[in-house]
Amino acid sequence: MTLPSHNPRSLGAWRKLDKHFQQLKNTTISQLFELEESRLERFSVNWEDFYLDFSKNRCSQKTIELLIELANESELGKAMDDYFSGKSINVTENRAVLHTALRKINKDPIYIEGKNILTRVESRKEKMFNLSEKILNGKWRGYTGKPVETIVNIGIGGSDLGPAFVYEALEFYRQRLKIRFLSNVDGDHSQEVLKDLDPATTLFVVVSKTFTTQETLTNAVTVRDWFRKSAPRSAVAKHFIAVSTNVAACQAFGIHPQNILPMDDWVGGRFSLWSTVGISICLAIGPENFDLLLKGAGLMDEHFKEASFDKNIPVLLALISIWYNSFWHAESEAIIPYSQYLRNLPTYLQQSFMESNGKAIDRNGNQVDYQTGPIIWGGSGTNSQHAFFQLIHQGTKLIPADFISFKHSLHSMKDHHQKLLANFIAQTQALMQGKSLEVVKRELEVSGYERHWIERLSPYKVFEGNRPTNTILIERLTPKTLGSLIAMYEHKIFVKGILWNIFSFDQWGVELGKQLASKVLSDIQGHTSENHDSSTRELIRRIK
Ligand code: F6P
Repeated sequence: MTLPSHNPRSLGAWRKLDKHFQQLKNTTISQLFELEESRLERFSVNWEDFYLDFSKNRCSQKTIELLIELANESELGKAMDDYFSGKSINVTENRAVLHTALRKINKDPIYIEGKNILTRVESRKEKMFNLSEKILNGKWRGYTGKPVETIVNIGIGGSDLGPAFVYEALEFYRQRLKIRFLSNVDGDHSQEVLKDLDPATTLFVVVSKTFTTQETLTNAVTVRDWFRKSAPRSAVAKHFIAVSTNVAACQAFGIHPQNILPMDDWVGGRFSLWSTVGISICLAIGPENFDLLLKGAGLMDEHFKEASFDKNIPVLLALISIWYNSFWHAESEAIIPYSQYLRNLPTYLQQSFMESNGKAIDRNGNQVDYQTGPIIWGGSGTNSQHAFFQLIHQGTKLIPADFISFKHSLHSMKDHHQKLLANFIAQTQALMQGKSLEVVKRELEVSGYERHWIERLSPYKVFEGNRPTNTILIERLTPKTLGSLIAMYEHKIFVKGILWNIFSFDQWGVELGKQLASKVLSDIQGHTSENHDSSTRELIRRIK
């Protein structure tokens, strides 16, 4: 066992936190501001282009101290060393977890089975960059001699969500190629993606770490059949490339060996956008920008490794999240980017957080007796304000939220940006401060309401407040800052997994559904007749 494995509830700091929770639970965030003089200074971090303000949380300085004690008792530092140095911390799959090697800033070697993997990382990246440049500058020609205009990324899960999110987020930096994403096995998706496409100017990128995923292979075959209707068999080599660890399966599918970009099994699917899986991103924004994305992530890795825990952005975010989840029993966390470009950040993070920390067996093989990964959800501000914010402000649930925005906009729309940021700031203020019954009544009086109506209406207009948020204000949306932001969340996931004593890097929970789907499919196709429960049997009968 490489990773330390402590039941967090058995640690002294956990017991202290339990007690501390009882003492703190009736103190509001606003009161904490009054009680703690240097609160903002202690509860903010300036790092590179990032400013994190975590002062609007139900945490006192004591809370943070105890949470850091918990991190130390959990041997987080040792776990971080194991993570970065390539130990097999993905124990149940017997693998290292090394997406950080793909963006490593210092080139000190990392050895796996006696070989420095950084040499391979560089050569894989070089191949991806060369291929991308050839396609981008029009030297790569399709079967009719025309250059490529559209890329279709065929993949699902990590082979789709990361590239799709970053493509959309960096739309401003997009060069000449358009990228479409095909993921769902629903035939409606493939038909919509293929609609209006010119096979002569389209390049298909089949991305699958395993090259066994039903959805991706079904879509790849459909697309290849569609392509072959108008192009000769030999044209496939000019229009299909693949990314996978399973090179033999790519070849068997008909991908030309030169068009296969291998990847390594120590890159988890949901952390793979930094690898050759990111080729669609690279094709969209160009190798130089892709390098900046890597650089941003690499810088966050350094910060995570080196900063003391009380000024360490991913560590602090993780500790605060554990505090709400395990002590306040918050069941979800919201991610609210005040940026249209980042509108799909919550969707992207859902996979990385929930596939990683949606676990109930600890690293010793025992059922946990505490809460682990929360539900991650959210949406872009300001749209979310007009959608689900009602519940965050006045509902019965405690929903800690991350508010993320950029100081400068990418377009010179000053008026829009000031309004966007005004909302961004005001919402966290409103969530913290709330509005008391007294204030509500006074406002209604001033507006000239009659007494009986003031009495009737006031309770509905009260805001309890004391709703926690983190504010992450970044200078500007660039490939580099986006890289740092994504890496920040990756490390938050890691820290939480370590402290909860679970394995964050496997995903056995997706397997049962896959197994049963293949049995149900066999039944639907009439090949077998399994002994299903009556509900399942009837559903199959109805669609047969
Ligand atoms: O089913 C879950 C999963 O294994 C994810 O972890 C992964 O990102 C996705 O499927 C796609 O897998 P692949 O890249 O092997 O097609």
